[in-house]
Amino acid sequence: MEALKAKGIKPALAVIIVGDDPASKIYVKNKKLACEFCGIESLEYALPAETTQEELIALIEKLNNDHNVSGILCQLPLPKGLDEEAVINTIKYEKDVDAFHPVNVGKIMIGNFDFLPCTPAGVMELIKESGIDVTGKKCVVVGRSNIVGKPMSMLLLHKNGTVTVCHSKTQDLAAECREADILVAAVGVPELITGDMVKEGAVVIDVGMNRLPDKRLVGDVAFDEALEKASAITPVPGGVGPMTIAMLMKNTVKAAELNQTGK
Ligand code: GUN
Repeated sequence: MEALKAKGIKPALAVIIVGDDPASKIYVKNKKLACEFCGIESLEYALPAETTQEELIALIEKLNNDHNVSGILCQLPLPKGLDEEAVINTIKYEKDVDAFHPVNVGKIMIGNFDFLPCTPAGVMELIKESGIDVTGKKCVVVGRSNIVGKPMSMLLLHKNGTVTVCHSKTQDLAAECREADILVAAVGVPELITGDMVKEGAVVIDVGMNRLPDKRLVGDVAFDEALEKASAITPVPGGVGPMTIAMLMKNTVKAAELNQTGK
């Protein structure tokens, strides 16, 4: 960041939000606040739900070619009728601060990457900063999404974990979870992971963000029960969420370095 400042470069993050999904609006607002806090310019493009695929693609192409834009993020999910895959594929991979573009996904698989997806990167940072060594540990990731589960399992593998990925067709989820030294829950099912599914001394990381009918925000882990067993555990809110945003800021600075200094 300091090196960029010396060159007169201010990283800029373009955030596109289509429609008015309340959760997405909150995420985008938090990303904007983080940019302001870090001295990153934030460019918000709030488009109506009726936006066409062509209009959205045209905006991304404009941002791809704008030398003042370091990173581009299109908040997901998109309203029905818009093609998320086409949108992800259109974002120039050098500006893809979400690391969702197939080129970036492939680079992560190989282990030679510029960007990591923000949520899994945030989880790895929490693990590292807590002094937890992944090498040889049994890691269980619950959830196989492209945004979290799949890249999460790859990052744990890069750190020499023995990784199991569980999903809705897993036969005995509780038994798999009970094997975990490091358990990452990323399925979007409120409090799916109960205390009896946690091994004594396990590290429990909750990526879930579920709004209950009574408006309470809970994770994928029954926190109070899991707390009794875990040696370390993340709460919801206030656990992985802030780390995700911090990693987005890091990726945006990286994008500015890649795009604006020719590094
Ligand atoms: N929706 C939920 N998580 C994310 C994310 O990390 N990036 C984007 N673009 N959309 C999301």
